[in-house]
Amino acid sequence: MTSLQEKNILNNQVFDKADWSSAYQNVEVELENQSLKISKGNIIPELNGTLFRNGPGILERDGQWLHHPFDGDGMITAIKFKNGKASFTNKFVKTEGFLKEQNVNKFIYRGVFGTQKKGGVINNAFNLKLKNIANTHVIKLGDELLALWEAAGPHSLDPNNLETNGLTTLKGVLKKNEAFSAHPKVDFNSNSADEVLITFGVQTGPTSTIRLMEFSNSGKNSGQILFDRKYKLKGFAFLHDFAITTNWAIFLQNAIDFNPLPFVMGQKGAAQCLKSNPKKTAKFFIVPRDSGLFRGQPPIIIDAPEGFVFHHVNAYENDSNIILDSIFYDDFPSVGPDEDFRNIDFDNYPAGKLKRSLIDLKGKSSKLVSISNQTCEFAVTNPNFLGIKSNYSWMACTERKTGNAPLQAIKKINLETKEELFWSAAPKGFVSEPIMVPKEGSKYEDEGYLLILIWNGSRRGSDLIILNSSNLEELATYELPINIPHGLHGSWANEKLI
Ligand SMILES: [Fe+2]
Repeated sequence: MTSLQEKNILNNQVFDKADWSSAYQNVEVELENQSLKISKGNIIPELNGTLFRNGPGILERDGQWLHHPFDGDGMITAIKFKNGKASFTNKFVKTEGFLKEQNVNKFIYRGVFGTQKKGGVINNAFNLKLKNIANTHVIKLGDELLALWEAAGPHSLDPNNLETNGLTTLKGVLKKNEAFSAHPKVDFNSNSADEVLITFGVQTGPTSTIRLMEFSNSGKNSGQILFDRKYKLKGFAFLHDFAITTNWAIFLQNAIDFNPLPFVMGQKGAAQCLKSNPKKTAKFFIVPRDSGLFRGQPPIIIDAPEGFVFHHVNAYENDSNIILDSIFYDDFPSVGPDEDFRNIDFDNYPAGKLKRSLIDLKGKSSKLVSISNQTCEFAVTNPNFLGIKSNYSWMACTERKTGNAPLQAIKKINLETKEELFWSAAPKGFVSEPIMVPKEGSKYEDEGYLLILIWNGSRRGSDLIILNSSNLEELATYELPINIPHGLHGSWANEKLI
């Protein structure tokens, strides 16, 4: 097993904000099966499958910029590897809202993160219809490729050419456009015979409802629902992500309030109406999985630590404890109504930190410990270790060890020893979520590849970089034929799944 040494000490180089913000531009073309030439390094013949990525592809229409990139219409990128050859496809998700706005070339919907229609408050007040922008994640379920956005239903795409089939009910499981999380987990370690995809949808209100669903994701029943159960929890619930173990699904209900009035009155986006409430206590809402040992038992509710969490990394069981790694912010990060997202002051913006919650199910208590104080986001684990103990995590992090800044480096951390290893794209490059692809037949947890879309500020273009996930050695670089704005989540599908 690789011993982690801090091979590359990160520099204190200062980034140029213009390099970072130059990634925010509209995607103007859609390409299909365009051959990619390797620009640096060597092809990897044993890497066979497709990298799917999602993220905002429209940032501006008719001179009006979105208020926040998270309001941008989803654009899917697929990079397919077969016998050492790579090809590139990108398509917008043809949602109803995208097609309407494309037709008139202006924003006719408000965005959750603060984008308003032109015409001021009077033209926005009481207009509560939101556009399903399908921009957050893209993942295979059965024979469908799903483009996800948590507040509404999944769009089904053709996995080969990324053409949009339309909203899907997943064989009648969902009501049309029913909320469906953008953070499904593919679980290879459940008690089900097949690989499963477990996910949830949440309906918020004074009492919120979580619908937990497990689907078969392999074999002849792939895409079929296996388990489906609803749980009610008290209060408003903003649940972007969750974590799983073999027996449990773990939700963290952040201690925040939602005051919809400024949204209704046309002054703010819905997400800008979320505010931390220091008088409230966050809660872990721990639900027994129907495939697990505690099926049918009531959820366990335990006070959670202070802080705001979008993303969890992994969780596992240790006797009657759950160990949960998450990225904590001091407060909910939001771009204020008078701020420009391309020019935010990173020093005044909440920073994500990797922390570990030790949850005692019997004693009904939890404790938070720090894993690293360096700013990070988009942390992943080896997908084969989801829900069970994993020793390693890979993530996007800042170049500097302290303070907030754009994500410019990739870090591998040994979660037990805290040893770290870095690969950096600084000063001119900016990273995104690393996708960890285990090497086929690998013996070691950290053996495989990291696939990362980079914004290359030097040439003002996008690159795909492939690193050795064990030692973070750079293996291959592909310069991509289109410019891809800083994106959100993605997944890898082995060739046999396509
Ligand atoms: Fe997310």
